[in-house]
Amino acid sequence: MHSGELIGVHTTLPHHEVLRLLCAATGHHSVELQLGVELTPDQVGTFDSLVARRLDNEPLQYLEGTVPFGSIEVAVDSRVLIPRPETEYLFELVVTMVAEPLVIVDLCTGSGNLALALKAQFPDAVVHASDLSPEAVAVARSNADRAGLEINVAHGNLFDPIPPSVKGQVDLLVSNPPYLAEREYADLPPDVRKEPRVALVAGPHGDEVVRGIAGQIGDWMAPGGVYAIEVSEFHAQAVVDAFTDVGGTVVQDLTGRDRYVMGRLPVE
Ligand SMILES: C[S@@+](CC[C@H](N)C(=O)[O-])C[C@H]1O[C@@H](n2cnc3c(N)ncnc32)[C@H](O)[C@@H]1O
Repeated sequence: MHSGELIGVHTTLPHHEVLRLLCAATGHHSVELQLGVELTPDQVGTFDSLVARRLDNEPLQYLEGTVPFGSIEVAVDSRVLIPRPETEYLFELVVTMVAEPLVIVDLCTGSGNLALALKAQFPDAVVHASDLSPEAVAVARSNADRAGLEINVAHGNLFDPIPPSVKGQVDLLVSNPPYLAEREYADLPPDVRKEPRVALVAGPHGDEVVRGIAGQIGDWMAPGGVYAIEVSEFHAQAVVDAFTDVGGTVVQDLTGRDRYVMGRLPVE
């Protein structure tokens, strides 16, 4: 079958999604596909099954299998949250705030996107990442292998699995914790509900995990260390108070929403 014919047939999905799925199914570039390529029956079958899954609300990125993040690419599937542009912006902000961090911690690492992009940026740093979901830990470890980067990914609640030897030594701490309240879950778009619930919902109020970080962060940061945490725009002003001991400030994203709590510890 000819690619042009196939692109024209599928009108139930937006044109750009059809093209992206066709790229994923065939390995061809979208320009080649639009100019016209002869497709094998196997490629057409793979494409048809991807379209069916997309029509069942599976996120496009899970079907494509990878997303770019910073200078790396991470594999994603239904075991992990799909990295968002807001989190990539957090990465872009923090790399301008630290010079040569030696110890980096990423709590709630998911696919390992932040931990790995930071390791790529700061190759001399030792990077520790943790996640409560064993499935996410497996994805982050496999993404580290895929990127050829060495990071330590541990299974557990927030700081619990981070080696106690780095207490007071962390030069850069990042986290994108879950921040939805339980009652918000049912109203999410169907494709977002295909992402792991544990990656989205923090508890009855939504601020439980970020407050868990606030309760311990002071024990882990090095003098002069920088931390940056992605938060809900609806919690930012309320939760920043929990970070006063470590100098918390609310920072806006590119659209002007209160989306991060960040701070730099005093140099002793
Ligand atoms: C919003 S996702 C962020 C994933 C990734 N860091 C990113 O930016 O795309 C939150 C992650 O936190 C994990 N998580 C939820 N509660 C946690 C906890 N108490 N301790 C550690 N990880 C937790 C989830 O399994 C999920 O992978």
